[in-house]
Amino acid sequence: MTRLAVVTGGGTGIGKATAGMLAGEGFDVIIVGRRAEVLADAVKWIGPQATAVTADVSDPAQVPAVVEAVAGRAVDVLVNNAGAYISGDEGTLDGVAARWHANLDSNVLSAVLMTTALLPHLRRPGGKIILTSSIAAQRGGGGPYSAAKAALHGYGLDLATSLGAEGITANVISPGYVTDSEFFDGRMTPEGHQARVDASLVKRAGVPDDIAEAVRWLVGPGGGFVTGQIINVNGGTVLGR
Ligand SMILES: NC(=O)c1ccc[n+]([C@@H]2O[C@H](COP(=O)([O-])OP(=O)(O)OC[C@H]3O[C@@H](n4cnc5c(N)ncnc54)[C@H](OP(=O)(O)O)[C@@H]3O)[C@@H](O)[C@H]2O)c1
Repeated sequence: MTRLAVVTGGGTGIGKATAGMLAGEGFDVIIVGRRAEVLADAVKWIGPQATAVTADVSDPAQVPAVVEAVAGRAVDVLVNNAGAYISGDEGTLDGVAARWHANLDSNVLSAVLMTTALLPHLRRPGGKIILTSSIAAQRGGGGPYSAAKAALHGYGLDLATSLGAEGITANVISPGYVTDSEFFDGRMTPEGHQARVDASLVKRAGVPDDIAEAVRWLVGPGGGFVTGQIINVNGGTVLGR
């Protein structure tokens, strides 16, 4: 029987590369995002095993659309990849609150709602949950984005602890600087790019496939005994911790 994966933020960048990798591994893949046209392009790129659900996964009213798309099948892999660095005016306490809520909603609540909604459908044993954090969680520099991604670490460890006995693994992938996505759109300069490359030990930026390859390992036979881990894929910019 064909295995099923759900990838949030699967229309662009890291999520799209991950969805493509999973389709190549033989999974049916449901990609989720807020822009229907972006998802439609990604489905064409991924191929016939992909379908799309247009939903904001940080909105409790929209997440059930993903459960409907699963249509009672067992979910083998859930990749909680949707997220964003959200800036804002922190000149007032209202501004601070709005920016923190936005970052926590985008990066934490999104994963919590999706995981909670799909939990009854995850394959037991064998289901795999992956959370997409960031190097910003481990070295700061992103304000509420750093804090939100760090919250995913605690959440991932808790999922691993509570679900291990049911045969479900949960791990966090923490990417370093990755190009070829929309993440830095309008925010990156040549100097900023170079500084990030120089800060890595391997002297290059990451690409979405670097992260997809880590997912391939985690969801394949090599990942069977791996749970409750923060897996750094960052070219050595931050050393293991
Ligand atoms: N690029 C990097 O250097 C880097 C480094 C560390 C961590 N990360 C993390 O890696 C993940 C993927 O980032 P990326 O680099 O591939 O950037 P990206 O191209 O901006 O991907 C983010 C994807 O998530 C979707 N998304 C965002 N919020 C959503 C929501 N509420 N509901 C549904 N979909 C949502 C976006 O599509 P819509 O806008 O259409 O919804 C988009 O397809 C993010 O969690 C990011 O924080 C990235």
